[in-house]
Amino acid sequence: MDASTPPSSYPVPRTCPIDPAPVYPRLRAEQPVFRTTLDFDGSEVWLVTGHADARAVLADHRFSSDFSREGFPARMTVRPPGPGTFIRMDPPDHARLRRTIVGEFRAKRLEKLRPAIQGIVDGLVDTMLRGGDTADLVQAIALPLPTLVICELLGVPYGDREFFQERTQVIGDQSAPPARRQVVRDELRAYLDRLVCDKTAGPTDDLLGRAAARLDEDGITHDELVGIATLLMIAGFETIANQIGVGTLLLLQHPGQLAALVKDPGLVPGAVEELLRHQTVIDYGLRRAATEDVEVGGQTIRAGEGVVVVLSSANRDERIFPDPDRLDLYRPEAQEHLGFGFGLHQCLGQLLARLQLQVLWATLFARIPTLRLAVDLDDVPFRTDMFVHGVHELPVTW
Ligand code: HEM
Repeated sequence: MDASTPPSSYPVPRTCPIDPAPVYPRLRAEQPVFRTTLDFDGSEVWLVTGHADARAVLADHRFSSDFSREGFPARMTVRPPGPGTFIRMDPPDHARLRRTIVGEFRAKRLEKLRPAIQGIVDGLVDTMLRGGDTADLVQAIALPLPTLVICELLGVPYGDREFFQERTQVIGDQSAPPARRQVVRDELRAYLDRLVCDKTAGPTDDLLGRAAARLDEDGITHDELVGIATLLMIAGFETIANQIGVGTLLLLQHPGQLAALVKDPGLVPGAVEELLRHQTVIDYGLRRAATEDVEVGGQTIRAGEGVVVVLSSANRDERIFPDPDRLDLYRPEAQEHLGFGFGLHQCLGQLLARLQLQVLWATLFARIPTLRLAVDLDDVPFRTDMFVHGVHELPVTW
């Protein structure tokens, strides 16, 4: 599809793997709230493609995150959310559940995890270097890093981390049969259920231990806490893993800017924001259903109609990010990106995500300044499911 034809269905495939579909600049300019159909079931949906309209929808309580609402643009295969899955809930349950762990994601608390994260990154880089002079960075770092960080955050005992890592590896492997991935998801949930039982019996000084000790006080059930733990594992794994893959790839594709980053580590936080903007991993976008008639971008979205906020388009909105397709690690407005969403459901783990990406990229390029792609860009296998943006493999050499 070329840039001038309005999309007949959603998602709109990419024509270049590192950029969203070329039709979005025209939609943002001419039809920023655009009606189309979903390719998996033909139902109608509104696409919101501009930055200001995206913020307006995500901040508006009249747009629901509940999959069971009429008109919600859910995939047919998605199971109803279990207890505790507050990302799919509206107030007041959303607030009640999010409140129980929000303190765990404040900057001061997360700073305590920094030495552990640095240790994990150092260990992964050591292992990668010991393996020779080539590696698949996805297997060596992108998948194990977020898994081990979640283990640290939740308080998974060291002896169980291999079990955890083997299972998340399967979830991250798009070529694994869907039935196998579902079995592994169920195994992880059962494991987290046992872990919450252990922590309720003998509380430990970690997120789950502290939450288990306060179950009655916070008014949440055992099953809800298991659901929260499962949500954290899912939300904090595939997103980071793919952000590491495509972010590292983009840096390697821009050697001049990468050299500046290695020379001045003070650039790292800004680089992380720019990579979150330029390579938006939530490729499908954020889904909502209107619960009342709401006017957005000159269109009336009626109660019961579905909306997809196309984050990857909003993050290339030229009104906020001049020359938006250019990667610019010095971009002053990069932190305006919507890679972590906006409003009520804005990513709870965003500071933890930033911490991991900052520690990783600062360490990786300082320790391996000669790191480069081992294949041409055309030979890098990108994900094409249009759900999460990323790479299946990232062959590197040094
Ligand atoms: C690069 C990494 C990440 C990206 C791009 C990302 C992106 C997002 C986005 C866009 C949302 C909003 C969903 C919506 O509005 O429907 C979200 C929500 C959420 N994220 Fe993240 N995330 C990342 C990492 C993490 C991590 C590390 C954790 C925790 C371990 C986490 C936990 C959550 C949770 C719990 C929510 C639900 C918040 C709520 O509904 O109130 N995320 N994330």
